[in-house]
Amino acid sequence: MPTTLIKNGRIVTAVDDYRADILIKDGRIHTIGRDLSVGAEVAVHDAAGLLVLPGGVDVHTHLDWEFGPSRTVDTFATGTKAAAFGGTTTIVDFCNQSKGESPLKGLEDWHRRRASAAVDVGAHMILLDVNAQTLADMKILIEREGVSSFKLFMAYPGVLMVDDGALFQAMRVAGANGAMICVHAENGAVIQVLVQEAVAAGHTSPKYHMLTRPSLMEGEATHRAIRLAELADTPLYIVHLSAAEALAAVTEARDRGIHVHAETCPHYLFLTDKEYDRPEFEGAKFVMTPPLRDAHHQHALWRGLKTNDLQVISTDHCPFCFNEQPYGLKYSKQLGREDFSKIPNGAPGIETRLPLVYDGGVAKGRLSLNRFVDITATTPAKLFGLFPRKGTIAVGSDADLVLFDPNERWTIRAAEHHSRVDYSLFEGREVTGRVKKVFLRGDLIVDGDRWLGRDGQGEFLHRPSSGRL
Ligand code: URP
Ligand code: ZN
Ligand code: ZN
Repeated sequence: MPTTLIKNGRIVTAVDDYRADILIKDGRIHTIGRDLSVGAEVAVHDAAGLLVLPGGVDVHTHLDWEFGPSRTVDTFATGTKAAAFGGTTTIVDFCNQSKGESPLKGLEDWHRRRASAAVDVGAHMILLDVNAQTLADMKILIEREGVSSFKLFMAYPGVLMVDDGALFQAMRVAGANGAMICVHAENGAVIQVLVQEAVAAGHTSPKYHMLTRPSLMEGEATHRAIRLAELADTPLYIVHLSAAEALAAVTEARDRGIHVHAETCPHYLFLTDKEYDRPEFEGAKFVMTPPLRDAHHQHALWRGLKTNDLQVISTDHCPFCFNEQPYGLKYSKQLGREDFSKIPNGAPGIETRLPLVYDGGVAKGRLSLNRFVDITATTPAKLFGLFPRKGTIAVGSDADLVLFDPNERWTIRAAEHHSRVDYSLFEGREVTGRVKKVFLRGDLIVDGDRWLGRDGQGEFLHRPSSGRL
């Protein structure tokens, strides 16, 4: 394994900001110091004028994932290559139990798919069938398999949703065994009524996806999940939080000392429900769940990031092509051309998270540099049992490093991305801040627009505990 020196960079972690050199040996950070001198055999990268950041940690992705009649279009190879170009060197991806089967079988299938990953990968387990065997298997997943976070859905009846009793039972097992429960918090039963009424009235355009998923029902489910977690005594993580009502429930609980954490996503911070007014079927590109909200919610989310009631920004990268070709209808938003309720829910974003949050957060004066690192790398690593191996720059940590130009202006274009998806939510948006080089455990895998990584280079991340900050 090569020995590497990164010289003259400005090292930024969640708490530090200083100039120093970093010597990498055996894939780990060996020495941090001023003016380190090395022999001719050492590869030297000059980071003058660049920020040296810990590799991004994205704890919400859906790669090569079956979702009802559809499937996400990125394989682990393409999705993780895209992640790397965006400065993300660790993902935690969702695998799932199939109804009537053990979650252990779901994990086995997922391991086969993730074998092509080019960055490091952990797994959360989605539980669909909570019975005595599943509850017993949860303990095996935590203790033996290194899967210490479980997602349960309060939405998508008939596909992914579980009832409150199932959720509560899973919470108790997670809490007692060092794991954390992640919830998709929307009131699925009420939303189903609204969706059925809209379709029956002939309201089939993508905008009705947003109109049938009111923020009140995200707030209601978030409050309910928190109360269940409180009773079950488990740490709770609210995924893809989009609504002011949901944030208010999280804030209220955190003020009472309850272990509830929450993430939001770049699309909720930078886009609004106006996107659904696009002509023709274009609004389908923005059909993700929860839907985009109005500016009032966006202001609340930025405030939540400031007050630490929101601790993480992840992508919920769940990519479906807009067009049917070249991958086929199963991978495409066109499945719902005639009926919004059949549009596969999800949107891409794995490659643009760091530049978007840097541009809209740091460059616009809403977030400090340290906070930027904290919410995109350090806290997700801590919450999901990866710290200090991941999420920081420290002696002994994995040498997952991003050299980031804080001044370069560039324009987001799907045609230049590395994902297989054929559109970007942020097409044509000019941003300041660009990933220049990426190291994964000391290996240079991205150098400008050159890909030096390898399919299968990513390691599985064993995470024996989650939710203990
Ligand atoms: O629309 C979304 N978010 N799709 C992915 C599945 C989920 O709910 O996370
Ligand atoms: Zn979800
Ligand atoms: Zn998701």
